[in-house]
Amino acid sequence: MASRAPETLCFRNIGQLVQVEPGPPHRLLTRECAALVVRGGRVVRAVSDRGIDPSRYSQVVDMKGRAVIPGLVDCHTHLIFAGDRKAEMAQRLGGATYQEILASGGGIHRTVAATREAGEADLYRLARKRMLRMMALGTTAFEIKSGYGLDLEGEMKMLRVGQRLKKNLKAPVVLTYLGAHAVPAGADREACFERLMEELPRFRSLADGVDIFCEPEAFSVHHLKRLFLHARLVGFQQLRAHVEELSHQGGCYEAARLGATSCDHLEFATPRDIRAMKMGGTTAVLMPGVTFFLGGQKLPQVHTMIDAGVPIALATDFNPGSAPSYNMQTVLYLACSMYRITPEQALAAATLGSARALGCEQEFGGLRPGQRADFLSLKTGDYRDLFYCFGENLVERTFLGGEPVRGGCAPACP
Ligand code: NIG
Ligand code: FE
Repeated sequence: MASRAPETLCFRNIGQLVQVEPGPPHRLLTRECAALVVRGGRVVRAVSDRGIDPSRYSQVVDMKGRAVIPGLVDCHTHLIFAGDRKAEMAQRLGGATYQEILASGGGIHRTVAATREAGEADLYRLARKRMLRMMALGTTAFEIKSGYGLDLEGEMKMLRVGQRLKKNLKAPVVLTYLGAHAVPAGADREACFERLMEELPRFRSLADGVDIFCEPEAFSVHHLKRLFLHARLVGFQQLRAHVEELSHQGGCYEAARLGATSCDHLEFATPRDIRAMKMGGTTAVLMPGVTFFLGGQKLPQVHTMIDAGVPIALATDFNPGSAPSYNMQTVLYLACSMYRITPEQALAAATLGSARALGCEQEFGGLRPGQRADFLSLKTGDYRDLFYCFGENLVERTFLGGEPVRGGCAPACP
C-alpha cells in the first residue's frame, strides 16, 4: 500500500522569525514578515510571507504577527526527584554553605532518602507534571540525570522513569547516568566508586551518557578520569561533568582532554581550562540560576570562553537543592544580566548551543531546514522582550514537530 505523503504546513504571518546558525559562535538569523514551511514534523524552509499561495499547503496557520523562536533546550536537569529542600534555605541564610549542608548528611542525601522511598509510579507522575510545565514555559528538549538513587536499584529506578518519559512525551529527552553524584551516607568513597565502575555496563542500555560531580565533598579528578575511560570502553556516547562549580579541582581540564561532550558549571574554570575545552570540542554549560539561588559571588569567565571560541550553552540545572526553578526564560534573563552577554548570545546558547551540549545540533535547536520543527510563538512580536519584560511567561504556544502542545499546565511550584 502506498503511504500518503506527509502534510505540508505553512505557519504564516510571523512578525519576527528567529533561526540559529551553527557556530561557534552560534548566531541568530532574524527575518521580519516570514513564513515557516513544515513537513513530517521537520522544517522545510523559511520564506517571506509575501506571495504565499495558501492553496499549495495542507494547512495554513496564522501566527498573527508574533515572534517565533526555536524551542528552548534545557541541557542539564535533575528533574526526577521526590521531596523538597525548603528547610535548607533557612540553614543557608543562617550562614551554612551548600558544601557544609552536604557534608553533614543533608543536601543531596536528603533528596536521595526521599527518592529511594518514593514508588516508581509517583516519581514518574511528579516528573511528567514538571516537564509539562516546562513545556508551557518554552522548553522543548530535555536532558535528565539520575543521581538520587546512589545504589544499583535506586539509579535504575530513576533511569526507568526517564525511559518512560522519553517514550511517552513527544519532546526529545537525553538521559544521563549520574551514579557518581555523591558518596552515600556512611559509605566508603573508594569502595563506592569501585562498585560504581563494576556496575557501569548495566546502565548502558538505560542512559545516553555519564556524569560525575567533582568536588572534595563528592568525587575527585582521578575518579573522573577513570569513569570517563571506562564509560568510553563500555560504549557511552556522551561524557559530562559537574566541574569547577564550588572550587577549582582540575576536572574541567581533564574532562575536556578526554573529549567531554560538555563541562557544566565552570564558575572556577581558568583560561587554561577554557583552552582545553576549545581543543576538546567541549561545550561549556552555564547555569546562572544556581549562582543566583545559592547567592554565590563567583561567575564563570564567559567572555573568555566566547573569545576563545568555546561553544556555550545555558540550562536550568533544575533540582531541589541548588536550582529549584525550571524556567528557561528566567535563565535567559539572568544570563544577560549576570554575565553581561547580549540577548542574541543568550538565546543562541539556550537553543542551538544547548542542543550541541547534547550532541543533537543537527537534530534540533536552530529551527533550520531538516531540523525538528520545535518552536515557540511569543506573546510579543520581538524576541528581545524575553530579556526586557522579565518575570512573565512570554510563551504563547509551544510547538513540537509542528504541532501545538496541549495541556501544558500553568507554571506553579515544583
Ligand atoms: O548541579 N552539584 C551537584 N548537583 C546539583 C545539585 C543537586 C542537589 O543539590 O540536589 C547541581 O548543582
Ligand atoms: Fe547539576
